[in-house]
Amino acid sequence: MQDSRRFTGRCALITGGGGDIGLATAARLAADGADIALLDMDSAKLEAARDKLADSGVRVGTFVCDVTDHAAVDRIVGEIESKFAPIDLLFNNAGFQGAFSPVHTYPANDFRQVMEVNVIGAFHVLQRVAAAMVERGFGRIVNTASMAGIGGPPNMAAYGASKFAIVGLTQTAAKDLAPHGIRVNAISPGFIGPGFMWDRQVEKQAAAGSQYYDADTARVAEQMISSVPMRRYGDLSEIPGAVSFLMSDDASYMTGVNLPISGGG
Ligand SMILES: NC(=O)c1ccc[n+]([C@@H]2O[C@H](COP(=O)([O-])OP(=O)(O)OC[C@H]3O[C@@H](n4cnc5c(N)ncnc54)[C@H](O)[C@@H]3O)[C@@H](O)[C@H]2O)c1
Repeated sequence: MQDSRRFTGRCALITGGGGDIGLATAARLAADGADIALLDMDSAKLEAARDKLADSGVRVGTFVCDVTDHAAVDRIVGEIESKFAPIDLLFNNAGFQGAFSPVHTYPANDFRQVMEVNVIGAFHVLQRVAAAMVERGFGRIVNTASMAGIGGPPNMAAYGASKFAIVGLTQTAAKDLAPHGIRVNAISPGFIGPGFMWDRQVEKQAAAGSQYYDADTARVAEQMISSVPMRRYGDLSEIPGAVSFLMSDDASYMTGVNLPISGGG
């Protein structure tokens, strides 16, 4: 019987593929029939992710790479394209939160590092993969922005600025790549858990000390959730369907869109 899943015969590259959202999305795209190339700088997380996808029935490749090392990105993307499969779908998702501190004391080195990963790294991956997609006249790209890139959260100057930049990058890339059959969209998750980023954010906001959050972590969690109209954080399982949709033909007239996944927050 013919395999009619939406991404059969396609290859998806997922950066931050060893992390919570990257792995959850990899599992969904694999279930949709795509072969999966996972890229992450953390080799142990990549190995664990590969084990979790072992029974997915698609090819899974893991590639250790720091997206701030541009020569390594060029080499690994070239390797994936030549030895694994041409990349049709890119989930440009690697990122981190950086420090938590009011802007007037925010560590400048950390600000630079967040930009290196979340903005310049994401740009470099997008540019390198898009160049190959342009040659084939087909591509679907989803960048991971954040609700922090829609309304700047307190104590997160670098992270908020980096995610605003991702929204801008998405909009310009969508225009530049539309003539080449490539659609570029973004997702903006709000508070998502359980997982590393939720736990870290609660702890760091409590420790940062501000008028916005309590010093007690349980209370911070309540305060965050009380700002969400749906009064809960989003589950990791609520992200991948949106990525799959934006990459699919169901979104064939959508590019430059930034889709909030935020419980209305
Ligand atoms: N979890 C949330 O609440 C939330 C909300 C909004 C946006 N996001 C965004 O979603 C994306 C994924 O976050 P997550 O929740 O899965 O976090 P995570 O920490 O579980 O995963 C992030 C992954 O990116 C990898 N990574 C970090 N820096 C890298 C680099 N320089 N090169 C290669 N890999 C690198 C990490 O090793 C990790 O595996 C990030 O861009 C994050 O900003 C997360």
